[in-house]
Amino acid sequence: MQKITIAIDGFSSCGKSTMAKALAQKLNYSYIDTGAMYRSVTLYALQNGLIDHKKKHDFTKLIEELPKIKVEFIYNPTLHASEAFLNGKNVDREIRSMEVNENVSAVSSIKEVREKMVAMQREMGKNKAVVMDGRDIGTNVFPDAELKIFMTADNMVRAQRRLDELSSHGDYHDINDVLQNLLSRDHADMHRKKIL
Ligand code: DC
Repeated sequence: MQKITIAIDGFSSCGKSTMAKALAQKLNYSYIDTGAMYRSVTLYALQNGLIDHKKKHDFTKLIEELPKIKVEFIYNPTLHASEAFLNGKNVDREIRSMEVNENVSAVSSIKEVREKMVAMQREMGKNKAVVMDGRDIGTNVFPDAELKIFMTADNMVRAQRRLDELSSHGDYHDINDVLQNLLSRDHADMHRKKIL
C-alpha cells in the first residue's frame, strides 16, 4: 500500500498525540511529537540557565547554544512508543513539567529554534510513513501531506487532560492554573509573528 504523510494539527492537550500514536501503531508508521522537540529545547534552556527571567525575550545565549542541542526519538518496545531524548538522555517525563509548560511558547517563537526544528521534522518525514503532530505541521512543515487532521476539544477537558498528565508524574497543581497556562499558550502560539 502507498505510504503517506499524516499531519495532525490542533491546540495543546486535545488528544493529538494520543490519536497520533494509536494511528501510527495501527499503520506501522513512525510517530513524531513535534511539541516534544520544542519542549526539549526549552528544558535545555532551563537546565543551562539560558532563560533570563528579567529579560524574557533575550534568547541570545540559547541561540548560540543551539548547535549543541540534539533531540531525538528512540522507540521503547515496552511502551510501544517513542520517547524524547535530549543529548542522549531520556527526558520524556521532564519535558511535561509545569516549568517547561510556562516557557515553551516563548522558546518556540524564536526564529532560529523553529528553523532547526522544522528542518529536523522534514528530514524525519522525508520517506513518508509518518504521523506527525503539532500546530504547524499541516500548514508549514508538510503542506502537501496527503492527510491533514485538525483537532480541538473543550477547554476544561483539555485542562483536565494536562492536570492528569502532571499528576501522574507526582506534579500536583490547581486545575485553574493549568487552564490559565493552556489559554495563555493558545494566545501566545496563535499570535506570535509568522516566522516560518
Ligand atoms: O503540543 P504541546 O503542548 O506539546 O506543544 C508545546 C509547545 O510547543 C506549544 O505551546 C507550541 C509549541 N509547538 C510549536 O510551536 N510548533 C509545533 N509544531 C509543536 C509545538
